[in-house]
Amino acid sequence: MDKKETGEYVTMHDSRSGKEFRFALLDGSVGPSVIDIRKLYAETGYFTYDPGFTSTASCDSRLTYIDGDEGVLLHGGYSIEDLAEKANYLEVCHLLLHGELPTQAQYDTFSHNITTHTMLHDQMQYFFRGFRRDAHPMAIMVGAVGALSAFYHDVTDISDENQRMIASHRLIAKMPTLAAMAYKYSVGQPFIYPDNSLSYAANFLKMTFGTPTQEFSVPDSVVRVMDQIFILHADHEQNASTSTVRLAGSSMANPFACISAGISSLWGPAHGGANEAVLDMLHQIGTKDRVPEFIKRAKDKDDPFRLMGFGHRVYKNYDPRAGVLKASVRQVLDELGVADEPLLDLALELERIALEDEYFVQRKLFPNVDFYSGIILKAMGFPTSMFTVLFALSRTVGWISQWKEMHEDPQKRIGRPRQLFLGEDRRDFVDIAQR
Ligand code: SDX
Repeated sequence: MDKKETGEYVTMHDSRSGKEFRFALLDGSVGPSVIDIRKLYAETGYFTYDPGFTSTASCDSRLTYIDGDEGVLLHGGYSIEDLAEKANYLEVCHLLLHGELPTQAQYDTFSHNITTHTMLHDQMQYFFRGFRRDAHPMAIMVGAVGALSAFYHDVTDISDENQRMIASHRLIAKMPTLAAMAYKYSVGQPFIYPDNSLSYAANFLKMTFGTPTQEFSVPDSVVRVMDQIFILHADHEQNASTSTVRLAGSSMANPFACISAGISSLWGPAHGGANEAVLDMLHQIGTKDRVPEFIKRAKDKDDPFRLMGFGHRVYKNYDPRAGVLKASVRQVLDELGVADEPLLDLALELERIALEDEYFVQRKLFPNVDFYSGIILKAMGFPTSMFTVLFALSRTVGWISQWKEMHEDPQKRIGRPRQLFLGEDRRDFVDIAQR
């Protein structure tokens, strides 16, 4: 559906000029309506002021809906709980790219398209060799994904719908190969080529943990956990990294460079880097008896320590993705043969104490997707430095689906925010001898 002109409006009385201004209210299909301020500057001479964009809708979208107060996350109308339980990641990719879950025939075609793009140009491996072995894998991913631009000139014509779709398939297909290579390079093992006979998640696990010296097998239950982790991180409305991809794409930059920009933004510990930071925090806390000390630090404005994996710009309720992970973490650890994980007990105690503390309750700070994901990834054998790489791998479909949606938007134009200027007004130049 398209946005609805409701005929209703808000008026603004400008006490400075004495004028009245009227701005239309537009309705979406669900969620808050918007005040259409596209002509506000032209009519009033004023900008709006919204650092952090807490009250700003930057675009139309049909991909993902979040109700932060209720803790609801929908992709194409399907709840994240249903998708995590009943779908696989490639079905969710089709849903985000095409707006519908695939029929069996559509799934077979889509899966074939992804599978046949899993390989990289063999020259790509030489980019890895320039990095130190101890380079953070996210640094490698920023460079390697951006470098894909050098190999796919044939998708520079992003005005062509078919080439946009091929670029989308290439990125979804190649991210697991690149992520596995980043891991292999960091542990000094040979790269493992994709195995197109395997599912998306199974192929990734083989490229990551397999070796040329022996057959690799992994229980279906572990493959399922990996696939669910991918689904839970696939897309999330206009978050910082998605907004980065949209803004980069609005200048008509090629999709590979745009996704590299998204990876850069995701890396920050306030965003996707939090999953790695949660494990570091749990190790820092160490034991349950030290939880109160760190809760106190998290509340102290003079202490930079924050409870990583807690809080969210939109969710003022439990992040439903954290709910799925919390509900399954014990079972997953059992399936992975991890009988006892003290970090899980510590995380559960940290959550219990925080959710009873007025500071967190009053600010509606709940666990987010990053709070439990790292415990599962650690049990699967991933080093913490790979956690955000896995987030980037999963989120690539969301980024590229939002990038594609932006290019299909008839009101597409380059994003160019303005500012409230607080600097010096015009002044005469002073020679250095007179300064
Ligand atoms: C992701 O946007 C998305 O959708 C992101 C994401 C996705 O899928 O793309 O969901 C993925 O990035 C999840 C968030 C991961 N980040 C973390 O877990 C890092 C820890 N969380 C915080 O840094 C913070 O909660 C943010 C960055 C997530 C949200 O920051 P906001 O919206 O700017 O909130 P805020 O900083 O204005 O906080 C409001 C209040 C402040 O206190 P007061 O000034 O009102 O007294 O809550 C406090 C904050 O100090 N607060 C915290 C806290 N988070 C917020 N205090 C202690 N620990 C925290 N974690």
